[in-house]
Amino acid sequence: PPLSRILNLRELEEVAKSVMSYKAWAYYSSATDDEITYYENMRAFSRFFFHPRVLVPVSKCDPSTTVLGFKSSIPVFVSGSALAKLGHPLGEANITRGAGRTNIIQMVSSNASLSYEQIAHSRISDSQPLFFQLYKHKDDKVAEQRVREVVGLGYNAIFLTVDAVVPSARERDIRAPFVLEDQEREAEQQPAADGQQKSTQETPRKPSDVDEEANVNVFGTAGGLIQFDDIDMSWKRTIPWLRGVTKLPIVLKGIQRVEDAVLAMEAGVDGIMISNHGGRQLEYSLPSIEVLYKLRKQRPDVFDKLEVYIDGGIRRGTDVLKALCLGAKAVGLGRPFLYAQGAYGEEGVVKAVQILEREIVTSMRLLGATSVKDLVPEMVERVDWQPR
Ligand code: FNR
Repeated sequence: PPLSRILNLRELEEVAKSVMSYKAWAYYSSATDDEITYYENMRAFSRFFFHPRVLVPVSKCDPSTTVLGFKSSIPVFVSGSALAKLGHPLGEANITRGAGRTNIIQMVSSNASLSYEQIAHSRISDSQPLFFQLYKHKDDKVAEQRVREVVGLGYNAIFLTVDAVVPSARERDIRAPFVLEDQEREAEQQPAADGQQKSTQETPRKPSDVDEEANVNVFGTAGGLIQFDDIDMSWKRTIPWLRGVTKLPIVLKGIQRVEDAVLAMEAGVDGIMISNHGGRQLEYSLPSIEVLYKLRKQRPDVFDKLEVYIDGGIRRGTDVLKALCLGAKAVGLGRPFLYAQGAYGEEGVVKAVQILEREIVTSMRLLGATSVKDLVPEMVERVDWQPR
């Protein structure tokens, strides 16, 4: 379908599934074991209901905010996800340009399929902020080198991933053949992603004709990518190490319990991201929104000391607003942006942000909120039954 017919993020996902290679779909959509946490991340949002205010003038309604001091048109950023090129030849550059055009911030994965430099050069202007997601190499010197590289390229914050010390089994991905090489060959035949040209893609790409049986990687993609990670990271050693390497804001990505949020606060980091890696790491991790709810209830003081973000299962503007009511400063989306670029390139990313903005503004008005600071805990209620 033409992009103008797409109404929501689910529909972008369906198009992506039909046009991307089987491997790209398997890699992006899969999660650990029985994918319980993956689905519950999404379902959990449906246990939270709103208490709207009425008779509040809402003609002026501003969904913008800041993330670590950087302006964002909506309280949403791109969660760093590996290998955007599997889904589209221009890969991460689609997201960089789409995010730049809509004024949201992209977190770039350590396992991006373009170089960190290519991504920085794909920005629509030098002032477009970029965050960097760090997988810490077990060798401090090598890890330091990676941080210094992105600092030198002008990246604006470091999101240290702490929920992925070892890869877990994403079985649909393990079974799928690995075809990045084919995608790269395809990319070489296209003009380079140097940010100069603009992809004007209004119809989905043709399904790529890669040989699905080729190149089976029995260890799965992640097993090959993060085997050099530091699995001995600790509060005592790792946070001071990173602080010593860079003055950039530091956010811990993958906090999953109240006690660790408090430790993060005491460690003096600038933010925490409640996340279970989109259900791709520890199976039976609690849904992110439930952890946020607990944190807000048990330790509201944490929200005064640092910025709290969440990701996992956010697919609608109402999901974003529920998280903000419960104290999140902003939320991240992973898969939806991979699908958007996989289906329609840069234009798909722009469309995804426009969809979210429309959903957010409509629901803010119906909630009686005209700015993000009007979104308060009293506006949401958690029910103990599961709707539909
Ligand atoms: C991820 N995620 C991830 N996280 C990270 O810290 N480094 C990475 O390289 C990746 N790579 C990655 C690849 C793919 C294909 C997916 C789907 C996810 C996790 C990601 O940042 C984010 O936490 C989740 O995707 C959020 O859940 P949703 O929005 O996908 O439901």
